[in-house]
Amino acid sequence: MKKILITGGAGFIGSHVVRRFVNKYPEYQIFNLDALTYAGNLENIKDIENQPNYNFLKGDIVDANFIDELFSQHKFDGVLHLAAESHVDRSIEDPLAFVKTNVIGTMNLLNAAKNQWKGNFEGKRFYHISTDEVYGSLGAEGLFTETTPYDPNSPYSASKASSDHFVRAYGETYGLPYVLTNCSNNYGSYHFPEKLIPLFINNIINNKSLPVYGDGNYTRDWLFVEDHAIAIDLVFHEGKNHETYNIGGFNEWKNIDLVKLLCQIMDGKLEREKGTSEKLITYVKDRPGHDLRYAIDASKINKELGWKPSVTFEEGLEKTINWYLNNEEWLKNVTSGSYKDYYKKQYS
Ligand code: NAD
Ligand code: TYD
Repeated sequence: MKKILITGGAGFIGSHVVRRFVNKYPEYQIFNLDALTYAGNLENIKDIENQPNYNFLKGDIVDANFIDELFSQHKFDGVLHLAAESHVDRSIEDPLAFVKTNVIGTMNLLNAAKNQWKGNFEGKRFYHISTDEVYGSLGAEGLFTETTPYDPNSPYSASKASSDHFVRAYGETYGLPYVLTNCSNNYGSYHFPEKLIPLFINNIINNKSLPVYGDGNYTRDWLFVEDHAIAIDLVFHEGKNHETYNIGGFNEWKNIDLVKLLCQIMDGKLEREKGTSEKLITYVKDRPGHDLRYAIDASKINKELGWKPSVTFEEGLEKTINWYLNNEEWLKNVTSGSYKDYYKKQYS
């Protein structure tokens, strides 16, 4: 039986990956390691917590001794590393927290895997999940490819770029078998309402203002989170060793156009008069160092592994909005902070 460590599995993308692996691979023992920071919520994965192949471990990847002991105890065959500080605005307020988790935490996992596997890499794999933000900002034209030079602009993207470099370096220097993916902006269920789409859905529900940074003419490429989880499954099992793959939605939207679309759909769902939600739009001070445009060329993963998004943006957004409307309890628990009690209730 294979033992797989997934870090950050109580977060947004990690919860979708853990769910997929636990349900699809009963032959694996899945270990979800998560520190349960503000972004970690065990309610995200409560549907699988009693499965026989699922194990939750609370712990911090920044603690090197703890990570070493964990690897000695469990002797993992594979690692999918998603734990991170993930929000650009928070990285502007507290860059060091991002260095600790994203750089040092990744280093601790790399060291533990290297020391545990001791050069015997048969059947072993370290998969580092990263972001397209490491490439910096595009102008009006062009796409990020796997060979685009790294040019990070925010403390978040600089910390992710640094961790990506360490992963590659461990591959080159010690032969550590790794794969790495750089993905565009995800959206979907269980997304913490600090990021654009869930924040704005929540604010529309509660008639609160929608703070659009700057003039709103910033572009992001949006991918449905379940399609990201499918891509991660594929790369983990079939990706070539020491390779990087870009993952994207072929789906560019200017923020302001996306926000107006959200407003229109939400007016319909909430049976409010047309134009009601748009009135909540408020242009606010821009984010410092705001990247103008991200867009991914995902042709490599498409040609080599046959992956492409399975849902259109219209379908994905519909599913996402319906999920938030049907899970107001989840939203309430997250915004009130009471989701933090779930660990105590279930695990202690
Ligand atoms: P998230 O913030 O929703 O979740 C992060 C998880 O990591 C949380 O459960 C948190 O408790 C855990 N964590 C944080 N610090 C930890 C630590 N020191 N030790 C152990 N656990 C810790 O993040 P997400 O949006 O799900 O992103 C997951 C990964 O995917 C990240 O590596 C991120 O850089 C990458 N990524 C995200 C996006 C996106 O659009 N969200 C896009 C591309 C790549
Ligand atoms: P975000 O969801 O924070 O993701 P990222 O910064 O990683 O791309 O932001 C997406 C875009 O939306 C980005 O251009 C910043 C913008 N934005 C706003 O205009 N207002 C907001 O309140 C937030 C959170 C983001």
